[in-house]
Amino acid sequence: MSGAPLLKGAQGSSPQEASAAGSSIQIRGMHKYFGANHVLRGIDLDIAARERVCVIGPSGSGKSTLLRCINALEDMSAGEVTVGGHAVDRRSGHGVNAMRAAVGMVFQRFNLFPHKTALENVMIGPLVVRKQDAAHARGLALRLLARVGLSDKAQAYPGALSGGQQQRVAIARALAMEPAVLLFDEPTSSLDPELVGEVLAVMKDLARDGMTMVVVTHEMDFAREVADRVVFMDQGQIVEQGPPQRLFGDPREARTRAFLARVLRTPGGAG
Ligand SMILES: Nc1ncnc2c1ncn2[C@@H]1O[C@H](COP(=O)(O)OP(=O)(O)OP(=O)(O)O)[C@@H](O)[C@H]1O
Ligand SMILES: [Mg+2]
Repeated sequence: MSGAPLLKGAQGSSPQEASAAGSSIQIRGMHKYFGANHVLRGIDLDIAARERVCVIGPSGSGKSTLLRCINALEDMSAGEVTVGGHAVDRRSGHGVNAMRAAVGMVFQRFNLFPHKTALENVMIGPLVVRKQDAAHARGLALRLLARVGLSDKAQAYPGALSGGQQQRVAIARALAMEPAVLLFDEPTSSLDPELVGEVLAVMKDLARDGMTMVVVTHEMDFAREVADRVVFMDQGQIVEQGPPQRLFGDPREARTRAFLARVLRTPGGAG
């Protein structure tokens, strides 16, 4: 569950101390253009094993693009990504499969297969990608559904589940691939407010278990409570980062202060 192969350099080490070997993800000089739009402008970021990093910033600042470039859903224009010490070569495609096996992603919209039950949605990755036998995949999927509080919904189809329940199935589905790192892109922002808490509770549980997590979120209370480090992005750059107490309590950059003043005044209105 917690990505044993990548657990070197674990808890207690600050991001700065994280050695290359103990670092789950290293990003160097990442740039991304969409046509003439220079969306990521030189991102350098290390995520240590077992670290919980929350990424915040205004709409359009490049947060989703960053996550999508990390796991090669988007092709970055320049730069390097290393996952678990292995470089991902975007030209040759070398390392992409290993990286995808190590890095799970949970999206804002859950992207469940509508014609498959919750159980089948969680089983499909282990069955198809990891070639596990059905009994093993089923056992794992049932354990993960229990973990996200949905044992009684194993046979339900997504259309019969609430948004919060669907997102919990999506988290179980990501966990079924036994990733070393989980990336979350605003996992609660398409949910009705009363359903946000149940998804955040599952994420807090994962964090307590030592899961390495990168969470793009507008939930500042979650970031404050769970993050080891908060990264503030604006206009394709990391403007400022630090422990949540420091970043929220004593932001050093004017852009960070302006953003926080705006989102902390209007709960949920970060975009
Ligand atoms: N597939 C795409 N094609 C062209 N432009 C894109 C694409 N995806 C994102 N962009 C552009 O890249 C910029 C950054 O978008 P991105 O989705 O990464 O921002 P974000 O920080 O995640 O914003 P939000 O908080 O609204 O989700 C925006 O200007 C956006 O229009
Ligand atoms: Mg986004």
